[in-house]
Amino acid sequence: MAAKAKHMLHCLFLVASLLLTIVVNGNATTVVKNLDLKRYMGRWYEIARFPSFFEKSDAVDTRATYTLNYNGTVHVLNENWVGGKRNFIEGIAYKADPKSNEAKFKVKFHVPPSVGDYWVLYIDQNYQHAVVGGPTKIFLWVSIYF
Ligand SMILES: *[C@@H]1O[C@H](CO)[C@@H](O)[C@H](O)[C@H]1NC(C)=O
Repeated sequence: MAAKAKHMLHCLFLVASLLLTIVVNGNATTVVKNLDLKRYMGRWYEIARFPSFFEKSDAVDTRATYTLNYNGTVHVLNENWVGGKRNFIEGIAYKADPKSNEAKFKVKFHVPPSVGDYWVLYIDQNYQHAVVGGPTKIFLWVSIYF
């Protein structure tokens, strides 16, 4: 089996067990503590998203690239391809509460202007798989780091 397919299978199991945990505990607020931001930087590929996992989407190769700014904020570049055409949106991420050790971030996009929640709900020891969500949304975002 190709490495990528193996990764996907692994992640699907991850998502399944996380969803189960969330359903059993009745909340999605298990947030990673003391995230190592430097290790988190780089390019992440989205492999599953809920609920749009069940929706139809033509977008492929959805990825996010994170770069640490000098002032401690994070530059965010989200990209995907629809019919061979690249779409992208750029923004900035910062700790929702600088005094907290929880991996709760705000992501601010410039065009169109919007602010969203970005919570890291799970990260593996090697920083290769992550699950990202928000306070009210049910969707989980699983990424592979290359
Ligand atoms: C941090 O640096 C980035 C990139 O230079 C900039 O866009 C942002 O406004 C700065 N934020 C703060 C809070 O200084």
